[in-house]
Amino acid sequence: MSDEAPSHPGRPGPEGAAAPATGGPASEDLMERVVGLCKRRGFIFQSAEIYGGFRSTYDYGPLGVNLLRNVKNAWWEAMVQRRTDVVGLDAAILSPPAVWQASGHLANFTDPLVDCRACHQRWRQDKIGGVCPNCGSTEFTEARAFNLMFKTHAGPLEDEGAVAYLRPETAQGMFVNFVNVLQTTRKKPPFGIAQVGKSFRNEITPQNFVFRTREFEQMEMEYFVPPAEAQHWFEYWLAERFNWYLGLGIPADKLRLRHHDPDELSHYSAGTADVEFLFPWGWDELEGIANRTDFDLKAHAAASGEKLDYFDPTTNERYTPYVIEPAAGATRTMMAFLLAAYDEDEVGGEPRTVLRIHPRLAPYQVAVLPLSKKDSLEPLSRRVLELLQPHLMVDYDVTQGIGKRYRRQDEIGTPWCVTIDFDSLEDGGVTVRDRDSTEQVRVPVDGLLDELRGRLDAR
Ligand code: GAP
Repeated sequence: MSDEAPSHPGRPGPEGAAAPATGGPASEDLMERVVGLCKRRGFIFQSAEIYGGFRSTYDYGPLGVNLLRNVKNAWWEAMVQRRTDVVGLDAAILSPPAVWQASGHLANFTDPLVDCRACHQRWRQDKIGGVCPNCGSTEFTEARAFNLMFKTHAGPLEDEGAVAYLRPETAQGMFVNFVNVLQTTRKKPPFGIAQVGKSFRNEITPQNFVFRTREFEQMEMEYFVPPAEAQHWFEYWLAERFNWYLGLGIPADKLRLRHHDPDELSHYSAGTADVEFLFPWGWDELEGIANRTDFDLKAHAAASGEKLDYFDPTTNERYTPYVIEPAAGATRTMMAFLLAAYDEDEVGGEPRTVLRIHPRLAPYQVAVLPLSKKDSLEPLSRRVLELLQPHLMVDYDVTQGIGKRYRRQDEIGTPWCVTIDFDSLEDGGVTVRDRDSTEQVRVPVDGLLDELRGRLDAR
């Protein structure tokens, strides 16, 4: 226990135990504090801030890029690396109108846009409950369908023949490459194609920090199945995806599954359920799991003239697979992980902010902290750093007192700090300090990597 940590003049002193977690700040403050932390510590910055900011776009700073990458890697590991039935893809972001004509997005990917007659602000009709959030008026123009896709032109001519779209979902890349993947991998249904990447939607009301933005990242998988097995795989993926969030530390009481009512379903879906997180403003979507039926493959087959089906040599049957699609937002999920992890407690009677984020997601898994700036500690500290860097994301910090440095690492979620002190030069040991309990143990440098890997694997 941290109270019982050996007190020794050459080593970092004990901090006092961490008081039991308080459950963090109330909902209304939580959002403000997490947004503040993101800016202060370099997780997320407003895009083009020096020019006054570009609304609804964000840049991921030195810590945010690590966290976001870890979220995507954890998804890829679960969805591709640890499976034999799913392969990856990285398709183009720019695509021709034919793709979106066939997919139905040109006709259907719209939100109902209304203008307030009093203050002339524009809103998404289905999000405002009949009252203007700006001025309280209940008088609006007739709703008109506003297409959410970003349109641009490929090449020097800005004419109709050069129109291209930024993809509003990564999914279509998987459908239009269905035969390429089938032929090159010799997979057969049930099998999936997974992709992580940017998508773009010209949202009418982007809001809640990175929850709804115009440029965001998705993690999607299209799982192609024999039609008769669609319901089975739908339920299978609901459970898999729900458990993925639990396994990475989202508390069970902040997570739920919600089945869509028939009038909520997207134009392609025969059934959808959302994994929802309890955000500070209430339950909201992290991920949708949909039964897209054979809608997309059939639509692209009809429009392109290519056969997008599967011939099963064991039954001599040719069929168009159904698709079960778990579609998550990487940036939105990252925000949920931050909100779920943010906490405030006390250590040794002093308040601290601590990000109790899963070690696999933490921007740094380890911080290497020489106890003092004295030159004599540097060679061993550098050796420890170089021992760990090939295997783990490591921060190295020599500034300020050790207590302040522990607090800084707690605030950014670093699960373990390794302190090199004057005794280390004699006994070859270092102190490993745990973020959540503040417990300190002495570990020989030779066994340090195994110790840290063991702790990581145990989570
Ligand atoms: N291919 C199906 C599809 O795109 P979706 O429910 O529209 O389904 C999937 O999007 C996920 O992408 C959402 O659950 C959400 O996490 C994320 N997402 C969608 N729009 C977003 C936006 N404007 N900003 C951030 N994330 C978004």
